[in-house]
Amino acid sequence: MSVLIPAPAAADPSGLTADDVARLRADTPGCLTRHHFNNAGSALPPQVVVDTMVDHLRREAEIGGYEAHAEAQDRLDAVYASLGALVGSGPEGISLTTSATDAWLRGFLSVPLERGDRILVAQAEYASNVLAVMSAARRVGATVEAVPDDATGVLDVDALRSMLDERVRVVAVSHAPSQNGLLNPAQAIGAALREVAPQAWYVLDACQSVGQVPLDAAAIGADFLSATGRKFLRGPRGSGFLWSSARAQTLEPALLDLDSATWTSVDDYVVQPGAKRFESWEKSYAAMLGMGAAADYALALGLGVTQRRISWLADRIRLALAGLPGVVVRDRGMVRTGIVTFSVEGQDAADVVRRIKERGVNVSHSPREYAVRDFDAQGVSGLVRVSPHVYTDDTDLEALIAAVSAAIA
Ligand SMILES: Cc1ncc(COP(=O)(O)O)c(C=O)c1O
Repeated sequence: MSVLIPAPAAADPSGLTADDVARLRADTPGCLTRHHFNNAGSALPPQVVVDTMVDHLRREAEIGGYEAHAEAQDRLDAVYASLGALVGSGPEGISLTTSATDAWLRGFLSVPLERGDRILVAQAEYASNVLAVMSAARRVGATVEAVPDDATGVLDVDALRSMLDERVRVVAVSHAPSQNGLLNPAQAIGAALREVAPQAWYVLDACQSVGQVPLDAAAIGADFLSATGRKFLRGPRGSGFLWSSARAQTLEPALLDLDSATWTSVDDYVVQPGAKRFESWEKSYAAMLGMGAAADYALALGLGVTQRRISWLADRIRLALAGLPGVVVRDRGMVRTGIVTFSVEGQDAADVVRRIKERGVNVSHSPREYAVRDFDAQGVSGLVRVSPHVYTDDTDLEALIAAVSAAIA
């Protein structure tokens, strides 16, 4: 047993054997060259994702982009079903987008806002979402308020209930915040909204939970759920998707093009029925097919298996880091994700990240600007973020702890 990594308190609860993990690593070319702990940034894709994309790009070069699209139509149709299965829905809930932010904006901006409306955001809400909320609120004269955290660090559902009234138009929450290992109580939030403020639109950012955690968007009670391809789902950069409820599919999107609507007469148009209304015509079909391959890979492995292995790995990392001098592990919440964050007394987080990366270990830096309210509440200006995945093994863990120890010495 390693001197750096404390023995795990319990065996890996995912059910994956050492041989299974070796197979996952053999599927993942990046494991050969890197100790990758930046899955919350952009995960290492399995080979099938790379092959799917490269094959499509080759067909585009050989026969033309539109022709390759037509040839792949059946496989593209299947992508909607694969993504739907990730969030407990059928294909009819899914719109393909270029990123989580693209998806989130298409949902949020469709909600008609009026002067005097209230928009509630989680304290840990992600910068891009809050920026869009502040900008929209300024334009119409709405207000933006943060729902406080409870003592464990997650969104306080009782406080939310007490804030809800008929003027609340949108509630925006990140399921797994970018800069903390907690999982917000998404379903309890949805239940509170339906009970106390049914007119409010619930926009759930599942960017960090899709591909990591089993999800059921309808059971959560969300109106919109946004996700990216490249993080825990292990798809390509430049891919994302939006899930929308039947009620949300009655909204007229803020962005229309000839894919989401049809120009029917000189001065009229009709919006596409269903989730198609939240898509744009042009997209990277290689990336969309790659995201579909990533979804199929994740579904075949099982999201419960994935969640259990990632959180077991993350807990082992927290334990090992907590034993290093000056390291303060910052994660809160009772249900933890694969995002591990820490600060080092007297040291700048960006410098620590740079020194860890110089040792061939990929970690990332979360600066205050990514979630100003959350960082200010914690009194920190930056954090080091470490995020394992199912393919992480003990050689990675040892390299990580050795690199962190050397970086902070
Ligand atoms: C919680 C959360 N929401 C949204 C985003 C933005 O995702 P994208 O870059 O795909 O738009 C991120 C990215 O880190 C995130 O962590």
